[in-house]
Amino acid sequence: MLKGISIAIDGPAAAGKSTIAKRIAQKLHYTYIDTGAMYRALTHKAIQSDIDMDSDNDLADLLMDTEILLVPEKGGQAVWIDGIDCSEEIRSQLVTGAVSKVASHPTVRKMMVDKQRALANDSGVVMDGRDIGTEVLPNADLKIFMTASVDERAERRFQENEKRGIHSSLESLKEDIERRDRADSEREVSPLKKAADAILVDTTSMSIDDVVDKVIELAEMRMER
Ligand code: DC
Repeated sequence: MLKGISIAIDGPAAAGKSTIAKRIAQKLHYTYIDTGAMYRALTHKAIQSDIDMDSDNDLADLLMDTEILLVPEKGGQAVWIDGIDCSEEIRSQLVTGAVSKVASHPTVRKMMVDKQRALANDSGVVMDGRDIGTEVLPNADLKIFMTASVDERAERRFQENEKRGIHSSLESLKEDIERRDRADSEREVSPLKKAADAILVDTTSMSIDDVVDKVIELAEMRMER
């Protein structure tokens, strides 16, 4: 029996991390943890509760009072906040526009990192985010830094929105992605950066299946060690 390993997938917004991470977790029967969804959940609740997004303390107090559950479901993961399924709401434009700010606060990040570490288990985990390989699971068995060109990422998000019946402009999606890249890479606490021992995977001209195969191949090499 091959051992369950921990796989960290980091990278900029809309690089395809969650699509790939979900598929890999499914194939390997591992737990999948979408850490971005946790920051989105807190952001959604902060908007609902009219909390000041500039206040680390107020957001940390709110997080203390909030139950965020990542519930595995077929083909993905539902996100429940205080007993209510908010999987759709956390993807709204309002939440997407505010989440980088919420994720920039040190106390909020520390609390989230503690929660994320507690969710990782020995029977195999795939976690995606921005600081998994550098901060949350620095001893992960396999670290992937997944990226793609800004044009490609905007195009993918555009197609994804179209499928969900959301009409968007390619140009504004591109601007939003660039703005989030900047905010996530330039923040003081745990900025988005490739861990020294992460493997860079540029998915610009790769299909989803190609990326999944490549990561599974790398994972299998780690399991055999
Ligand atoms: O992956 P995503 O787009 O759903 O993430 C939402 C935001 O949360 C993103 O702008 C950066 C932040 N984030 C983070 O700072 N650290 C993580 N581990 C995951 C996400």
